[in-house]
Amino acid sequence: MEEKPEHRTGYESPSWWYDIRGFFILKLAYRGSLWKQVSFFKKNMESNRGGAHLEAAIGSGTLFSMVLFALGHRRRAVKEIVGFDYADQMLQGALRRFGKDARIRLLAADVHKLPFADGSFQTANVANAIHCFSRIEEALSEIFRVLQPGGLLATNVLLNPRGLRVQRWLANRINRWGQKKGILYRTYEAEEFLTLVKQAGYLVVVDEIQGNGLFLVLKRPAS
Ligand SMILES: C[S@@+](CC[C@H](N)C(=O)[O-])C[C@H]1O[C@@H](n2cnc3c(N)ncnc32)[C@H](O)[C@@H]1O
Repeated sequence: MEEKPEHRTGYESPSWWYDIRGFFILKLAYRGSLWKQVSFFKKNMESNRGGAHLEAAIGSGTLFSMVLFALGHRRRAVKEIVGFDYADQMLQGALRRFGKDARIRLLAADVHKLPFADGSFQTANVANAIHCFSRIEEALSEIFRVLQPGGLLATNVLLNPRGLRVQRWLANRINRWGQKKGILYRTYEAEEFLTLVKQAGYLVVVDEIQGNGLFLVLKRPAS
C-alpha cells in the first residue's frame, strides 16, 4: 500500500503539543502506563554491552529522555546512541533536547530505508511507533538488517482495542482520529504481528500484553 502524504504531515504539529496529546493517547488508546514503557525500553538498553544503540522514530525525544534518566550511569556501557525520525518538527524537538549531548547522534531518516550499514547496532528501540509505519514488512526487515547478529529490538505494538465495551469504544474513536490525522497507520491483532516478526526472521524473546499494547523483545538470531 502506498504511504499517504498525511502520514508524514501528521507529525508536523509543534513537539510540545505532541507531548501533551501523547499523554492522553497513552492513557486512553494504549491503556498503558508511562513507567511500564520507560522500564521496558530501559531494560533493552541495559542489555547493551559496549555496542551502539538505535532509537528508531525517536519523535521529540520526551520518552527517550526519561529512559536515559532511568538508565542513569549504566548508559555509559552503551558506546554510541543514534536516533532518527522522518518528521522535521519531531526531530527539531529531539535536537533541542539532546543537541548538546555529544554521545547522541540525531538524523532524519525513513525507517523503510535506513542509512546504516548491516549489523551496526547491538540494541534498538521502537517506542510507540511501529504501528505508524506504512510498510511494516519493510520496516521490520530494515531494522533486522541494521541489528548485529544476536542484537535485540524492543517495541510496543498498538493492538486492536480490547477490554470493556466502553474502553474499546473510546480507544476505537481515538485510533480512527489518529488515522485521519496521519499519526497512526493501523492497529494489529497480537498473533498477526507475531507472525510478521517471525517471517522477518526474528526470534521472540519477550511477548507480553498490557492494556492495548503488545510488548515485544525480538532477537536477530546469532547466526
Ligand atoms: C507516536 S510517535 C513516537 C515517538 C517516540 N518514539 C515516543 O515514544 O515518544 C511516532 C513517531 O514515528 C515517526 N515515524 C512514523 N513513520 C516513520 C517512518 N516511516 N520513518 C521514520 N519515522 C517515522 C513519527 O514521525 C513520530 O515521531
